[in-house]
Amino acid sequence: MELDTLKDLYVEELKDLYSAEKQILKALPKMIKAATHPELKRGFMMHERQTRQHVQRIERICKELGKSPTGKKCVGMEGLIEEASELIKEKPDKDVLDAGLIAAAQHVEHYEMAGYGCVRTYARHLGYPQHQELLQTTLNEEGDTDKALTKLAETGINLDAKSNADNQPAGRSAGRKSAGRKSGRK
Ligand SMILES: [Fe+2]
Ligand SMILES: [Fe+2]
Repeated sequence: MELDTLKDLYVEELKDLYSAEKQILKALPKMIKAATHPELKRGFMMHERQTRQHVQRIERICKELGKSPTGKKCVGMEGLIEEASELIKEKPDKDVLDAGLIAAAQHVEHYEMAGYGCVRTYARHLGYPQHQELLQTTLNEEGDTDKALTKLAETGINLDAKSNADNQPAGRSAGRKSAGRKSGRK
C-alpha cells in the first residue's frame, strides 16, 4: 500500500489497531483463565466486552471510508501477547502470576492508547469529527482500564504477591526473579 497522504496513514493505522484488537480478543480468554483474583478476572471480562465494541467502532469507521479494516498484522501487539503467554507458561505462584498479568495487560493498554491517540488526532486533522468522537471513546475506555488495573495492583494484588515472596523459605524467592521484576513496576 502506498503511503503518500495523511489519509493513507490514517487507514493504515486503523488496520493496525484492528489487528491489535482482534489479537487481544483471542488472548483475553487465556488471561481470564490464568487469573486467580476474582476482581482481576472480572476486570478482564469487562474489557473483553469493551474490546468487541472497539472492533466494531473500527469496522464502522472503515466502512464509512470505503476501506477494509483487514490486511495488516500488528506485530507490536503480537510481541506483547507473546510476553504474556511466556509469563503464563512459566507457571509462577498464583499471586505473582496475577501481578504479572496486570503488568502485561498494562503494556497492552498503553500500546493501544498510543495508537488511538494518533488516529484520533488524524481524524481531527482530516475533518472526520464523528470518527474523532468514536476513537476518543475507545481511547477513554483503554485509559480507564489502565487506571483500574493500577488500582487492583496497588490495593491488593501486588501486596499478595509480595507477602507470598516474604513467606518463601530463604533462597527460594531467588528463582522467581522475572515475575518479581514485572510486579516491581507498580
Ligand atoms: Fe481496545
Ligand atoms: Fe484494551
